[in-house]
Amino acid sequence: MSKIVVGNFKMNMTLQDVAQYVQYINNINFNPNQNEIILCPSYIYIPYLNNNIKFKVGAQDVSANHMGSYTGEISAMQLKSENVKYSILGHSERRMNFRETENIINKKIRQCVDNNIKPIVCIGESKEERLMMKTEQILRRSILDLFRGFTKEQLSDIIVAYEPIWAIGSGITPTPKEIEETAYYIKDLVRSAYKVDIRVLYGGSINLSDMHKFIGLNNIDGYLIGGASIDVEEFSKIVELIS
Ligand code: 13P
Repeated sequence: MSKIVVGNFKMNMTLQDVAQYVQYINNINFNPNQNEIILCPSYIYIPYLNNNIKFKVGAQDVSANHMGSYTGEISAMQLKSENVKYSILGHSERRMNFRETENIINKKIRQCVDNNIKPIVCIGESKEERLMMKTEQILRRSILDLFRGFTKEQLSDIIVAYEPIWAIGSGITPTPKEIEETAYYIKDLVRSAYKVDIRVLYGGSINLSDMHKFIGLNNIDGYLIGGASIDVEEFSKIVELIS
């Protein structure tokens, strides 16, 4: 089954680093018809990557607004003009550091959908919520708020990334069985609420040595990778492994 692998570079790398990355990764064995690899650098490197890399390129965020007096923001329309087809939205780091709510993220999804950009929407529970057995409740509320106001066709283009907050950058992950069950829960919820089949990725402390645990999970359509995507050798091996 074909997989989606998203590399979230976060706020890492300079132009020189990105150029070296491209040189290395363009030489690996990769069949573009088999899996979808999407690299999400800082905005300023999107044009460079788009012009030089053989993979797809996405953004890490998008403005909730269409255009106008929003200093420092980048709109979906501007990303579209740079030929960007994907954007991560609602990452927990943005929720925490920039107080993004489901309502704001819902508006960002709207901007993406209106500009033919596929949203990769992050949801996930905190450690406390997990300990209180509230994971499903949190995911359910997120999905119902985030998916509000879209047609079936628009929803089918949304990719959900299940990223438990406690797993990000911690070296700790849910068990493969837990990931399977949670992904099933998300897909089942969306299917019964909206009659739509969506794709679900897993993200949080994915690295090359643990990759065998995540490959072959039935309900997982791919991976959202942070730290290990910045290391070009490690990321290349992950891409080769799933090919
Ligand atoms: P790590 O892979 O570094 O845990 O980060 C995951 C993440 O936040 C991807 O968006």
